[in-house]
Amino acid sequence: MQKAQSIDQVQHMLSEQGYVCGRSLATVVFLSLKLGRPLFLEGEAGTGKTEIAKALAASLGRRLIRLQCYEGLDAASAVYEWNFAAQMVAIRTAEAAGSAERAALQAELFSADYLIERPLLQAMRPDEHGAPVLLIDELDRTDEPFEAFLLEALSDFQVTIPELGTIQALEPPIVILTSNRTREVHDALKRRCLYHWVDYPDFDREVEILNARAPRASAQLSREIVAFVQSLRTEDLFKKPGVAETIDWANCLLALDVIALSPAVIADTLGAILKYQDDIARLQGSEAKRILDQAKAGLDAG
Ligand SMILES: Nc1ncnc2c1ncn2[C@@H]1O[C@H](COP(=O)(O)OP(=O)(O)O)[C@@H](O)[C@H]1O
Ligand SMILES: [Mg+2]
Repeated sequence: MQKAQSIDQVQHMLSEQGYVCGRSLATVVFLSLKLGRPLFLEGEAGTGKTEIAKALAASLGRRLIRLQCYEGLDAASAVYEWNFAAQMVAIRTAEAAGSAERAALQAELFSADYLIERPLLQAMRPDEHGAPVLLIDELDRTDEPFEAFLLEALSDFQVTIPELGTIQALEPPIVILTSNRTREVHDALKRRCLYHWVDYPDFDREVEILNARAPRASAQLSREIVAFVQSLRTEDLFKKPGVAETIDWANCLLALDVIALSPAVIADTLGAILKYQDDIARLQGSEAKRILDQAKAGLDAG
C-alpha cells in the first residue's frame, strides 16, 4: 500500500478523488489502513461517510464491495445463498433422465456452480488488485442479531459453508462501516473498529467541498450558499441539511442561472435543502430573509 504511507498522503489521494478530508478523518483512515482495523464512521446523513469508502477504493485502485444494510437483512443476503431456482431446474432435468444422472447431480447441487456469492463472501475472495474495500453501509438500519453475526465475520474473515467447507480471506478486506445513528450500535462491534464521528464541515471546508463538487459556481455564490446552509443548521429543524444538500442546492441554483442569493430564490428552491414540509413551512415568510441576512453578516464580518 505504497500510496498511503502518511496522513498527508491519505489526504492528498482522497483530494484527487474530489474528497475533502480533514486532518482527523485522514488520521483514522491512515491508521485503519496501517493497522488493518475496520473503520467505523458515524454521523448525520449526507456528511460524506459513504463517499469516503468510494473515494478510498478509487484512489487505491481497489474494488469496492458494498453491503447496504436494511431492516431484516440476514446472513443469506449478506454472505451467500444457494441458487434455488437453478437447483430446481437441474433436478427436473435429471429426473427426466436416467438414474446415473440423478446420482451425479446429488454431488453437484451444492457446488460453486449453484452458489450465489453476496458481498461478505465476495470480499473474502482474492483480487489481483489487492484486497477490496468492503463498505458496510448504514449499519444502524439492521437489527442486533445481524450485528452479532457481523462481529464474528469481522473477527476472522472466514465463512463456513457446510456443503463446501471453510473459505478464508487470504488478505482481509479494508472495511468501512457507516451509521447515521438512528440507533446506537453495540459496543462490542465498535470496539473492533477505529471510530470517527463525521461532523458537518466548517465554513472553509464546505466551500472547498463545493469547489470540488460544483466547480461552476462562482466563489461569491459558493460562499453565500455555504453561509446560508451553515446558518440554517443552527436553526431548530427536524432534519438539518447535509453536505449532499449543499451540493444539490448549488447545482439547482446554477441550473437557474442564479448569481446571488435572495429571499425569493431561496423560497423557490427550498426543496433542494429541506425535505420535510414542517421545516419548509418554518422558512416561509420573513424567516428565510432573516437567516440570509444573518449569513451575509457573517460573511462580511469574516
Ligand atoms: N468531504 C467531502 N468531500 C467531497 N464531497 C463530499 C464530502 N462530504 C460529502 N460529500 C458529498 O456529499 C454527498 C453525500 O455524501 P454521502 O457520503 O452519501 O453522505 P453519508 O453517507 O454521510 O450520508 C456525496 O455526493 C458527496 O459527494
Ligand atoms: Mg451514506
